[in-house]
Amino acid sequence: MPTKSKLPLFPLPEPQPQPQPQPLRSSLVPMAISFANATIFSKPSLFLQRSTLAFCLRFSSFSTSSATVQFHAHKKWRQPVTSSLVELGGLKISREEIVKDDPTNNVPDSIFSKLGMQLHRRDQHPLGILKNAIYDYFDTNYPNKFDKFDNLCPIVSVKANFDDVLVPADHISRSYNDTYYVDSQTVLRCHTSAHQAELLSKGHTHFLVTGDVYRRDSIDSTHYPVFHQMEGVRVFAPADWDGSGIDATSYAAEDLKKCLEGLARHLFGGVEMRWIDTYFPFTSPSFELEIFFQEEWLEVLGCGVMEQEILKRSGRMDNVAWAFGLGLERLAMVLFDIPDIRLFWTMDERFTSQFSKGQLGVKFKPFSKYPPCYKDMSFWISDSFTENNLCEVVRGIAGDLVEEVKLIDNFTNKKGMTSHCYRIAYRSMERSLTDEEINDLQWKVREQVESKLKVVLR
Ligand code: DAH
Repeated sequence: MPTKSKLPLFPLPEPQPQPQPQPLRSSLVPMAISFANATIFSKPSLFLQRSTLAFCLRFSSFSTSSATVQFHAHKKWRQPVTSSLVELGGLKISREEIVKDDPTNNVPDSIFSKLGMQLHRRDQHPLGILKNAIYDYFDTNYPNKFDKFDNLCPIVSVKANFDDVLVPADHISRSYNDTYYVDSQTVLRCHTSAHQAELLSKGHTHFLVTGDVYRRDSIDSTHYPVFHQMEGVRVFAPADWDGSGIDATSYAAEDLKKCLEGLARHLFGGVEMRWIDTYFPFTSPSFELEIFFQEEWLEVLGCGVMEQEILKRSGRMDNVAWAFGLGLERLAMVLFDIPDIRLFWTMDERFTSQFSKGQLGVKFKPFSKYPPCYKDMSFWISDSFTENNLCEVVRGIAGDLVEEVKLIDNFTNKKGMTSHCYRIAYRSMERSLTDEEINDLQWKVREQVESKLKVVLR
């Protein structure tokens, strides 16, 4: 498992030296394996390090219909993209509205190029197959009950992404180091929970939202800055729990657990399961479901009884609700034996042809093992250095040819200067890379790391 301090569902932005407290998690319970873009929300608020944010927040709101957003000078280091118009949630959005040379914008072209790909809507893709299998479960057990959304626009307001689901103002997930901001009031959603409040306000009481979500992150075989989640919400009215002999919250929690245990059995068969108490800003009580699969405890999802405040603000005073969120990649990697998260994005037929509609859990047969090539790079960091920024630079140059960026040495000298040595693993899943190609990539990485991250190469 990753040696960096990764949280159960999703990772921390920077290596954290101290062990992180796990609220309510019993220290006697062995940790489940932690991988594939999991939750940062299972932490209470952590203060943002504002000094490291070289961004002045200015007021401006994003309007998807606005054509007035100005395109500023093209940043030299950005790679050209092929298409500059993308369709999102039924709207056409131009690159200039998303990638802006503005201090309140940190969306690179490498991320813009992923918008609108919607892997979860492809029936032959492992993520689409998994989504459909989850739909099948809900359709069978709750016929015509759950409304399904898989085409909601991933560009959302800060309010929808954070405020409406009660993410504290100082929570680390709000930082520019963790989240892609289009402007100070607009982000690429970092979780599908961003749609909870709006759908509740519109009157939906049973719904599933599937979508691509975006997070600035480190690079390894289980982390990718774009991944996919499914959110589920079920609202109860007093008539549901009246006469059950238990209070509304317990009633919702029991129903939630029953529903999700059934889902886990539907996907994984007769596995051993356990519930772990945890923390999410949007639920109370909050739980994680883990299953014992292939000799390890695997975190499957986060969930809980929705905070009453969310319901109240959506005009649902008298109701209770449960909610869950799960990462499709992490489950698909296990169910289909997919060893590297980049594979979900490959167009290589040797990958795509192995999966077909409705076939959950067909085991992926690796078609190649091209050798990795390692390049080390040492530099003196500055105060504002973050690993996520480094990874963004590397991905911007090498794209999916970078497999891992790993801190292998870290020391501070007598003068108080800190040096980091990172090892970059380059490997294509599709072909052999030439020395020349890799040297060229590494050269560009070195150049941009120095110019963009204000570090001094050693
Ligand atoms: N939004 C959480 C995340 O991205 C996942 C989640 C946890 C969603 C609990 C929920 C929930 O709706 O109740 O990590």
